[in-house]
Amino acid sequence: MTEDVLVVHGGTPLQGQIRVRGAKNLVSKAMVAALLGESPSRLFDVPRIRDVEVVSGLLELHGVKVSAGAEDGELVMDPTNVESASTDEINVHAGSSRIPILLCGPLLHRLGHAFIPDLGGCHIGPRPIDFHIGALREFGAVVDKTPEGMHLSAPNGLHGAKLELPYPSVGATEQVLLTAVRAEGVTELRNAAIEPEIIDLICILQKMGAIIKVHTDRVIEIQGVPRLYGYEHKPIPDRIEAASWAAAALATRGEIEVLGARQQDMMTFLNVYRSIGGELKITDDRVARAGVAGSEGGIKFWHPGGELKAVALETDVHPGFMTDWQQPLVVALTQARGISIMHETVYEQRLGYTEALNSMGATIQVYRDCLGGTPCRFGRRNFMHSAVIAGPSKLHAADLRIPDLRAGFAHLIAALAAEGTSRVYGVNLIKRGYEDFEAKLAALGAHVERL
Ligand code: EPU
Repeated sequence: MTEDVLVVHGGTPLQGQIRVRGAKNLVSKAMVAALLGESPSRLFDVPRIRDVEVVSGLLELHGVKVSAGAEDGELVMDPTNVESASTDEINVHAGSSRIPILLCGPLLHRLGHAFIPDLGGCHIGPRPIDFHIGALREFGAVVDKTPEGMHLSAPNGLHGAKLELPYPSVGATEQVLLTAVRAEGVTELRNAAIEPEIIDLICILQKMGAIIKVHTDRVIEIQGVPRLYGYEHKPIPDRIEAASWAAAALATRGEIEVLGARQQDMMTFLNVYRSIGGELKITDDRVARAGVAGSEGGIKFWHPGGELKAVALETDVHPGFMTDWQQPLVVALTQARGISIMHETVYEQRLGYTEALNSMGATIQVYRDCLGGTPCRFGRRNFMHSAVIAGPSKLHAADLRIPDLRAGFAHLIAALAAEGTSRVYGVNLIKRGYEDFEAKLAALGAHVERL
């Protein structure tokens, strides 16, 4: 078997224009939501990424017809004839993604039973599913965990419940939404996640016929309805991909315009970008249309020359600084003058990639303490979850192995910023979340080649 290796000749500023499509962390959930409808759904601007393939496969196994629509990136999902699939067929997707856990509610509503394979996703901590299972049981589901996967049934149907999450988990909030919309009665969810991708999922469910109120203070109330229909939806753009390219512009002292990036989903990132010395210009869709026919808005990010400034940051749930923005930005922070701090409060083990940056000449030390901000859940639990980055450091080429999706993109940025030729191993992992990243790198003038 050939290794998937990208040879990166670094040291050239990335320059040009690329486009982001629908957010990976919304599109896959929107596809699961289609299973709840009694008529076909159409999703636009769907990126060609691995999670979309996995969810398409799982939907098809359950009788949903998934086909390409007339427009580039349009996906049509017809759930008129939902049917059971065998555990063997489903298990083909074991370990490939975390999305299958979200099929529980929709399959219980459509079939009365569900089988969920072992989950995959990035190794960034233990990633338990206790909130999901706890909530499903409150709805009345019977959950049986076996070595081959998880079997669920709902002998007495699913009923609305009063729930409170111990932490505002994105996945568990989606689990509750996708289950409560067709459960009998009212569900009240406290301490819910309110990420823009969740609000977009709520918009989709409302288009399908659901009744969902988002109250203040992270409270979501869902009135169950007996039936839902298909939707047509253009997803929110991928704000993680947009920020990743923004960080690449800074780390390589370049200039990248990210078409499709939207200010309102990225305000926290944009503030940080400016505070460390990055420049940006936002063009709204309406303004873009008034200028060049057919053009769309976006955000241009660039390094203005001179030195970047150090910053103390912590990752948090929305509207805080996203955990998925952390890794690419840390690469840029290796180029800032002074001591930067990154306190990771969402995942307990998401700083392992800093070792690779150190092997390239960065000076990053990781600590168990909660540095630079308020104490978090991990402070007393012995996790290396704060990083101190001393800069600026001249990065040099190295051979790197990609550990997970976001850290992988950070490795890639580091290799592009470093002088010399690096080999990045396991680069196909990046395809899980970054559509056509090699074509985009080429468009930005990067010198990369497959081994
Ligand atoms: N958690 C629990 N128990 C649960 C669920 C979560 O303890 O049952 C904990 C997690 O271990 C973690 C925290 O709660 O410490 C937050 O996890 P969350 O459930 O919010 O994460 P997720 O839904 O599994 C999604 C994204 C992640 C993103 C996080 C946080 C998808 C497919 N994944 O994960 O994206 O980092 O929300 O915003 O939407 C990525 O795109 O690379 C990625 C990892």
